[in-house]
Amino acid sequence: MKSDNEKVYRKSVKKISQSCAIYTFDKIIGKSKNFVSVIEYAKKISDSTSTVLITGESGTGKEIFAQAIHNLSSRRGKIFIAVNCGAIPSNLIESELLGYEEGAFTGAKKGGNAGKFELAHGGTIFLDEIGEMSLETQVRLLRVIEEGVVSRVGGSKQIPVDVRIIAATNKDLQEEVKKGSFRKDLFYRLNVLPLWLPPLRDRKEDIPILIDYYMTKVSKKLNKNKFKIDSTVMNKFMEYDWPGNIRELENVVELIVNTEKIPDYILKLHKTFVVGNNKVAEGSMNFESMKLEDVEKNHIIKVLKSFRGNISLAAKAMGIGRNTLYRKMEKYHIECSETEQ
Ligand SMILES: Nc1ncnc2c1ncn2[C@@H]1O[C@H](COP(=O)(O)OP(=O)(O)OP(=O)(O)O)[C@@H](O)[C@H]1O
Ligand SMILES: [Mg+2]
Repeated sequence: MKSDNEKVYRKSVKKISQSCAIYTFDKIIGKSKNFVSVIEYAKKISDSTSTVLITGESGTGKEIFAQAIHNLSSRRGKIFIAVNCGAIPSNLIESELLGYEEGAFTGAKKGGNAGKFELAHGGTIFLDEIGEMSLETQVRLLRVIEEGVVSRVGGSKQIPVDVRIIAATNKDLQEEVKKGSFRKDLFYRLNVLPLWLPPLRDRKEDIPILIDYYMTKVSKKLNKNKFKIDSTVMNKFMEYDWPGNIRELENVVELIVNTEKIPDYILKLHKTFVVGNNKVAEGSMNFESMKLEDVEKNHIIKVLKSFRGNISLAAKAMGIGRNTLYRKMEKYHIECSETEQ
């Protein structure tokens, strides 16, 4: 039964792993200053065998950068293998990466099987979602990086491999190291060439360009009209935080082309501004005045009115003494007559 399950898993693992790189730097969109400097840096580190660690929030383009780096390197004619470490069950990942010998486990293929590292020989391996890798597999990976050899599961032969590693994660690996869920030594081995991709909200000038690009692409694909976006709506797009980054933007554009309308959560967005360390939404600021004294004065008038000007009851309700209430009425020039009706 276990081996049947494993067979099913192994088939799906083939789908999870992918072996071609289609993206090149000229297809990566973005003109903002910080993004252009990220592209320049990524180009510079492309043609090297040193390990790259790409970090950035979900949907910031980690995978397309990995492909573009491979395609600009001298390995471009060779294989690019992407392995999603987060999607492969932990009991299978080692044999997927390192291969296995015949008889290594129930259901192992006759003659054994080459792992992704062997298959990627001469090319690039993209270890996506590296932050999800178990500590045991991290040890095996560290050995491959340090020694440049793999030994298949259940075997002892050491097979030399020449593979460039590009790893990616949306986790803060340094934080994971502190928590003990990621090995410090592996982190340093991977983080030789760090590449951090900024979130879309930090490169807002690129939002209109990306919207235009995806509007053309999606409307062509769906054979529908482009939806015209006026400047008020574009401002809303610029104010929006885009937690899902470019992937979210792509989906929002597809939704707009299909429904011919802008999603409400973006249209009804309230401009935010910073007060101290907090972001405050403009819509939540419907006060006549923000001064505490004005709020106190209005509150006293309201309470006095609800007790028809009875000072003792009003003071009791507000949890203060009568004398304090008199003092405050004097300070705010509140006349008893105006609270008696
Ligand atoms: N600069 C860009 N120009 C054009 N398209 C982009 C750009 N960056 C990302 N995309 C598009 O956004 C989508 C998400 O990109 P990608 O899969 O590389 O993100 P990711 O960082 O790997 O996300 P996750 O962490 O969720 O796996 C893809 O469809 C990709 O084509
Ligand atoms: Mg990805």
